[in-house]
Amino acid sequence: MGESKVEEALRMFPLPVSVVTVGRGAVENALTISWASPVSFEPLQFMIAVDKKHYSVEFLESTKNFVINLLKADQRKLAGHFAKRSYTGKGKLDEVATREASTGGAILTDALAYFDCEVVARYDAGDHNLYIGRVVEAGVLGEGEPLTTGAGIRYVKSKPS
Ligand SMILES: Cc1cc2nc3c(=O)[nH]c(=O)nc-3n(C[C@H](O)[C@H](O)[C@H](O)COP(=O)(O)O)c2cc1C
Repeated sequence: MGESKVEEALRMFPLPVSVVTVGRGAVENALTISWASPVSFEPLQFMIAVDKKHYSVEFLESTKNFVINLLKADQRKLAGHFAKRSYTGKGKLDEVATREASTGGAILTDALAYFDCEVVARYDAGDHNLYIGRVVEAGVLGEGEPLTTGAGIRYVKSKPS
């Protein structure tokens, strides 16, 4: 299976783009996620796939909550901002308007919709972990279309450093 064919096929797969916030209170972080989906109606549950090497994993393992903030079509810049790797001393959430969700996580007040989740399971999925979250609160915050990978913003495999 040629690498370029794989990448080409993956590019065909349309996905919504969200900012997922992790942690609670002053101890929090956020990252851009497109590998996310609802997986159950009853109870309502979502899954997110997170690279095992991401800083955000520490939060998911300790506070066991996350908020999926589905972005609007015109929030591409925000997706780029949260796709930056975290480094000490500079919180990615510092200059973004948020309010506290039921789990204590952060809701981006300018998002299209949000799903506040408690982690109920974690599965090993190769180089990513799948976190299953039970939705404890959800809401619509805005109007319009969601940002999708069709807009030319995509999750690409990070090159070894
Ligand atoms: C459009 C887009 C989608 C992304 N989707 C995911 C994803 O589903 N899972 C993931 O682990 N990283 C994804 N990323 C990469 C992370 O957002 C990025 O590596 C980020 O720096 C991780 O944040 P952290 O270092 O603060 O944990 C995506 C990036 C972009 C631009």
